[in-house]
Amino acid sequence: MIKVLFVCLGNICRSPTADGVFRKKLFEQGLADHVEVDSCGTGDWHTGKAPDQRAQAAARKRGYDLSGLRARTVQLSDFDTFDFILAMDDNNLTDLLNMAPLHHHSKVRLLLDYAPVTGLKAVPDPYYEGADGFEQVLDLVEQACDGLLDHIKAN
Ligand code: 4NP
Repeated sequence: MIKVLFVCLGNICRSPTADGVFRKKLFEQGLADHVEVDSCGTGDWHTGKAPDQRAQAAARKRGYDLSGLRARTVQLSDFDTFDFILAMDDNNLTDLLNMAPLHHHSKVRLLLDYAPVTGLKAVPDPYYEGADGFEQVLDLVEQACDGLLDHIKAN
């Protein structure tokens, strides 16, 4: 079993989107029983909440159901549990690396490392943006999830 954790700030916009997108791709490729997926936030303001309604609506239009997800905060045991810990932006990455035991640093990367074609390093935070921000999150996350899936299949 390979375990993947997507991480953003609030765990209500970007990382639950990645969670829902990656889960669906795994299911479609018959890999859902081989890869476990979860998401969390570096901040705790939204713990227990469902994903932002705007993120859910944008995802739903592309066939992803985020409604069952609930926000949680990253915890120290996540660095033992997960094989891939994928941050949405540099702030998330720095927070994770400050928290992670040194021997687990290699697990912690930016999600968009798996989508070099985008030319971006970070999935921009859509929380204070309009609907376009959520479409961009989906565009970037879909490309990165394809790249991540190719990487996992190849290894
Ligand atoms: P996320 O977006 O990190 O993609 O879930 C945010 C959600 C909430 C806040 C910031 C970003 N906030 O400041 O409450």
